[in-house]
Amino acid sequence: MATISFTPIGIIHTPYTLLEDMPIQPTGALGVPGWVEVYPEFIEGLTDLEGFSHIYLLFHFHKSEGFRLSVVPFLDTRPHGLFATRAPKRPNPIGLSVVKLVRREGQILYIENVDMLDGTPLLDIKPFVPGFEQDAEIRRGWLENANGRVDDARSDSRFLDKPD
Ligand SMILES: C[S@@+](CC[C@H](N)C(=O)[O-])C[C@H]1O[C@@H](n2cnc3c(N)ncnc32)[C@H](O)[C@@H]1O
Repeated sequence: MATISFTPIGIIHTPYTLLEDMPIQPTGALGVPGWVEVYPEFIEGLTDLEGFSHIYLLFHFHKSEGFRLSVVPFLDTRPHGLFATRAPKRPNPIGLSVVKLVRREGQILYIENVDMLDGTPLLDIKPFVPGFEQDAEIRRGWLENANGRVDDARSDSRFLDKPD
């Protein structure tokens, strides 16, 4: 299969310098500020983004190594298929977070609700538009019966110690 390579369009800055003990999703980091530096050659592409209150950030889990196809995710004590989780160790370690866009100053986006490490390479930005993806009948899979609460859960050693 052909290899695909991406070039980062910027870098995400957050208060989190260690994987241990950080939030596992944006709802666990409500109000936590960060900022995105978009590289100068991509600034034109930010035009009109400030009209959106929330944006998707797609990013590289750059400190993630290896993966298992069955994992015990942060929110449960039972194993689940990797692709039924948001675990950071993946064959293609790409993260996806909806963050609040507070304001834009040129190539800098000031954001809140950050759940990625400081220095995380940014792959793409898209506006978050609920109406584009909402469906009245949403099922939450294994999360319906999960033990953990996403707002309280913090990143721990199960994914961090060593490459799988
Ligand atoms: C469960 S993932 C969720 C990220 C995103 N919201 C998603 O669903 O793709 C968040 C966890 O990934 C890990 N993480 C965050 N930034 C990372 C990075 N740059 N490299 C490796 N792991 C990272 C931390 O353990 C963090 O708690």
